[in-house]
Amino acid sequence: VLCSSSPKIEGIEPSIRQSLSVNPSLYWWRLMKQSSLDYKIKARNKNEHGDFLALDLGGTNFRVLHVRVLEEEKVVDILGSQTCSISQDIMLGTGEQLFDHIAACLADFISSQNLKGQTLPLGFTFSFSCEQKKIDESILLRWTKGFNCSGVEGRDIVQLLKEAVQRRGDFTIGFVAMVNDTVGTMMSCGYRDQSCEIGLIIGTGTNACYMEEMRNVKRVEGEDGRMCINTEWGGFGDDGTLENIITDINRTIDQTSIKPGVHIFEKMISGMYLGELVRLLLVKLTEQKLLFKGQRSTTLLTAGTFPTKFISEIEEPLSGLENAKRILSSLNVPYDSVDARIVRLVCDTVSSRTARLCAAALATIANRIRVNRGLKHLKTTVAPGMVRLLAPDCDITFILSQDGSGKGAAMVTAVAQRLALQSHLVLQPFCLSVHQLRTISDLLMKDLIKGLGKHSHHKAAVKMLPTFVRSTPDGTEHGDFLALDLGGTNFRVLHVRVLEEEKVVDILGSQTCSISQDIMLGTGEQLFDHIAACLADFISSQNLKEQTLPLGFTFSFPCEQKKIDESILIRWTKGFNCSGVEGRDIVQLLKEAVQRRGDFTIGSVAMVNDTVGTMMSCGYRDQSCEIGLIIGTGTNACYMEEMRNVKRVEGEDGRMCINTEWGGFGDDGTLENIITDIDRTIDQTSIKPGVHIFEKMISGMYLGELVRLLLVKLTEQKLLFKGQRSTTLLTAGTFPTKFISEIEEPLSGLENAKRILSSLNVPYDFVDARIVRLVCDTVSSRSARLCAAALATVANRIRVNRGLKHLKTTVGVDGTVYKKHPNFSDELQAMVRLLAPDCDVTFILSQDGSGKGAAMVTAVAQRLALQSHLLEDSDGDSEEED
Ligand code: BG6
Ligand code: GLC
Ligand code: GLC
Repeated sequence: VLCSSSPKIEGIEPSIRQSLSVNPSLYWWRLMKQSSLDYKIKARNKNEHGDFLALDLGGTNFRVLHVRVLEEEKVVDILGSQTCSISQDIMLGTGEQLFDHIAACLADFISSQNLKGQTLPLGFTFSFSCEQKKIDESILLRWTKGFNCSGVEGRDIVQLLKEAVQRRGDFTIGFVAMVNDTVGTMMSCGYRDQSCEIGLIIGTGTNACYMEEMRNVKRVEGEDGRMCINTEWGGFGDDGTLENIITDINRTIDQTSIKPGVHIFEKMISGMYLGELVRLLLVKLTEQKLLFKGQRSTTLLTAGTFPTKFISEIEEPLSGLENAKRILSSLNVPYDSVDARIVRLVCDTVSSRTARLCAAALATIANRIRVNRGLKHLKTTVAPGMVRLLAPDCDITFILSQDGSGKGAAMVTAVAQRLALQSHLVLQPFCLSVHQLRTISDLLMKDLIKGLGKHSHHKAAVKMLPTFVRSTPDGTEHGDFLALDLGGTNFRVLHVRVLEEEKVVDILGSQTCSISQDIMLGTGEQLFDHIAACLADFISSQNLKEQTLPLGFTFSFPCEQKKIDESILIRWTKGFNCSGVEGRDIVQLLKEAVQRRGDFTIGSVAMVNDTVGTMMSCGYRDQSCEIGLIIGTGTNACYMEEMRNVKRVEGEDGRMCINTEWGGFGDDGTLENIITDIDRTIDQTSIKPGVHIFEKMISGMYLGELVRLLLVKLTEQKLLFKGQRSTTLLTAGTFPTKFISEIEEPLSGLENAKRILSSLNVPYDFVDARIVRLVCDTVSSRSARLCAAALATVANRIRVNRGLKHLKTTVGVDGTVYKKHPNFSDELQAMVRLLAPDCDVTFILSQDGSGKGAAMVTAVAQRLALQSHLLEDSDGDSEEED
């Protein structure tokens, strides 16, 4: 009779998989990342606050709460709460009666708290299985746990609540967010421990929620990130899966319940049923004359006379037997001391089975999270013992939730209120799935090939420019060089020494010169005169006047390089637009400007793109470096392509470095599907509309402006700053890209957000600060992902070019976005791993790479005879490559 069931329960995992009760409106969670979970429960403070009402229905008590979220101290405070009783009549009455009762309790509480004039948002912890359509629309699937009000199943709970409030008409409520108790619990514990990603309830009912990978949540669109799934594991076994372990007593419990046939697992586990399980076992044991000398007691024969709390009392280690005797007396059974012990054993049997079943289910979830993430070992937070046995690879910490549902509901409401679906709609187009990224990568691959083709090059958006750099450094280069570096955040002049023996490149001196907006948009002559002036200045400060040093010119704009020292500017990008330079040879223009001055001379000039300079300088350290990547003011990459594929340059063997100019990807409309309204605005208001579309979605020159425009849009929709506009924020350029990095700082980010928002003269509250952080995160993640897709394409191309199953390669990287943003590089690298699984890509950060690299190129150019030159374009139809 008492044999406790085996903890090994097969089939929980598939069942959880089938019955994923998805909550699409919790979609924003995955966007929130830690921003909503970084609360700490500490002391209180009176400055900034958000007040909420919370309702908590479905547990032992029905409660109404007044909750305050205090930003400064990161506290969630319960300002007041009231427990209201719900009679059996109401639990089994009509829906209208139930909701009228709820509204009445709410009215009562509101007036006792002097909240009558206010319209507070309300978080509703409604602990029943609901199909949530939106955060504020939640359809009851079925009553559980003894509730069975008519006319509620299949209806929207928010609607029913609002109607009841309207029927009264003596108070109002604001936005309503619906949460399951498991979710509220996970959210509130998450403030304290950010690895809390499972919410577990073992009370009147039992259930758990956890963070599932979006790619597995097939009922909701989107592939990446995670979403909180309310498992409703109470329903496990409703299809017969648990036949083997279900006992006669379980069947009786089910058949005499208000809802027979459903929530079978819950009926074996939860507080609503445990007492009754014990009572039925005691009756059975009495019938078999194993207890109370076989004498029945009408009290014990009556359902509900053995509440679950008796079990806890009887199992008390010290007072348990005494308690048992007291309880048995109250049940009018003739017991002796052996009976008392047997009763205690019965209680223990039933409660252990509960713990074991729960442990089995929890272990399933912990293992699932572990496997989802490809981990050998998982550390996560959610009673030791059994779980440890069942999920030995998972290290689970349990945090007891204190008023978790109420607090969690308030947090969910606080952010969801405005973030819910509306801002979700604004931000959603910026969230690119892995699937979308793969498509983008495929498109780029086609464009790379088009750009290389002799006949297709002239109409290609991605220019794939030959650089005449045929070799990465071999370590024998040496000498002194001048270097110019134009096109990034700073314009620099450098004096560089390449030391052969030590394989180092030394910067002997350098100087940053400013370039005014006037010069950036003036004439070419002005620009080159300015460059020559800076050079003259530097040369005399370095006492190099008498020497004629070779010069490496890192000119970070798309150039058609005819030879290493002849480079025609195709077009300006990144805010430069000097007249009379496009279509001209940059080396010539520089030399003319130097001649116009006549006070110094320069030797041979080698032109390099910054990507090439970066690759070359990293290549000196790591010879497998064959990709150069820039994510700064602009974005671009170069890589070593097989000569046989570089159709525009004669020669079949060896490799040549190709400057992809991937910034131009999408200029022919290829990216239509992923371009947003905001991207269009950025492009149209830029100095060069219609060109370098991909760069405008990614690079530092535009990221801040993207965020600013999104903030303006969210304000217009009244989702931010109470809809109040600020002229500062409405002005272009007031949100520089560095703000994004500051706001996304893991620790100081929210503080930084507030400082920045103050400086922008916007009236913000704590939810605004979080939403702003979310916007930054959305924009910077998109940038990282797009870059990853592009880089994966290049890595895959190299791999396929070489006929390799697996490629090991190194990328030299530079640029302020990559270097300064707190998690850009992590996100980029993670996505590359996902998108190019057959390529093992190492990233090397370039230090002064362009300057050093330009010197390297010059040195390599000197070492190698230049054999190649550019062929004329032709306009054939055929593509040379598949
Ligand atoms: C610098 C290089 O470190 O990075 C430049 O010296 C390059 O050549 C630049 O253009 C790119 O980054 P940013 O952020 O300055 O545009
Ligand atoms: C029941 C409900 C579920 C809730 C659980 C714990 O199983 O269906 O939604 O989470 O009880 O209260
Ligand atoms: C722009 C330029 C490109 C450069 C990149 C990074 O995209 O066109 O040449 O490499 O910015 O600076």
